Amino acid sequence: MTTAVTHGSQIRELGPPGLRGICFSCDSMTGLDIAEETARRVGDAAVWYGVGILAHDEELAVRCAEFARRHGLHPLFHPLDLDVCGTDPLDDRVLKAIGARADELGSPWLNVDLAMWVRQGETLLESLVPMPLVDEAVEWAADRIKHAQDVIGRPLTIENAPYPFVVGNQDVLPLMTRIAERADCLMTVDVGHLYGLRMQRGVPARLPSDDGDVAWERVVEAHMSGTFTRRFDEGVLVVDDKHDWPVADEVWALADDLLPRAVNLRSVMAEAEGMNADDLTDSVLRFARSADRWWSTP
Ligand SMILES: [Fe+2]
Repeated sequence: MTTAVTHGSQIRELGPPGLRGICFSCDSMTGLDIAEETARRVGDAAVWYGVGILAHDEELAVRCAEFARRHGLHPLFHPLDLDVCGTDPLDDRVLKAIGARADELGSPWLNVDLAMWVRQGETLLESLVPMPLVDEAVEWAADRIKHAQDVIGRPLTIENAPYPFVVGNQDVLPLMTRIAERADCLMTVDVGHLYGLRMQRGVPARLPSDDGDVAWERVVEAHMSGTFTRRFDEGVLVVDDKHDWPVADEVWALADDLLPRAVNLRSVMAEAEGMNADDLTDSVLRFARSADRWWSTP
């Protein structure tokens, strides 16, 4: 299979032709030994490795690239300070550094959650502020994404962020589609984040808009991880993702329903920051056993 996605007036080839499969991530800053052990155990069950690092961490980018090369894995870069939905002005020096890391890794695209990643110069990392789900977000995010793509020189794939709290009343997939079409970028569907958002709102996991208002052809990446659900005494429900927990049955079912619509899907990621090598290996092998259900027939 050769995957091509319309990007502007061009058809852009995305990474090695025909390459699609399972990705895994762990904490690249502290857990490369876990990645090494997992890569040895899973063999060719994984083909991608998700690299989450900061723009200026050249040394870690090079180490991750070498790790991936040793194991026949292809890096997918997830910059941790690419602030596509924040209010600080975008800093071209940071964007150029991100572009250099993408070159070192050879990542075909860069994945970024639609969230505020930086606030007054401080990287938020574990405290992302998800994009408000309102009309005004479309122009704001799209203009920043367009600029970031131009400076970085590679396409971005925008991901639906986790919503431990929700601001705004729109569903995230149609809103992401409007942003992606305006910015001409790719999309990542985090199935666990989507499930959590809809549970948080008390709406069904599948919505009629999934059939008509989503640019599924722009989706190249999907993610899944565990889900934390807690209902407090006053009826307040908190749903969030937990990368060190196994994927819930409801999230597998939602993935089986949605992912075959994504004809250009190249990577499904087992997100696993905080897992040990035993649990991560089990997770990757389970993803690999399920993968045939997610790829649509070329
Ligand atoms: Fe994700």
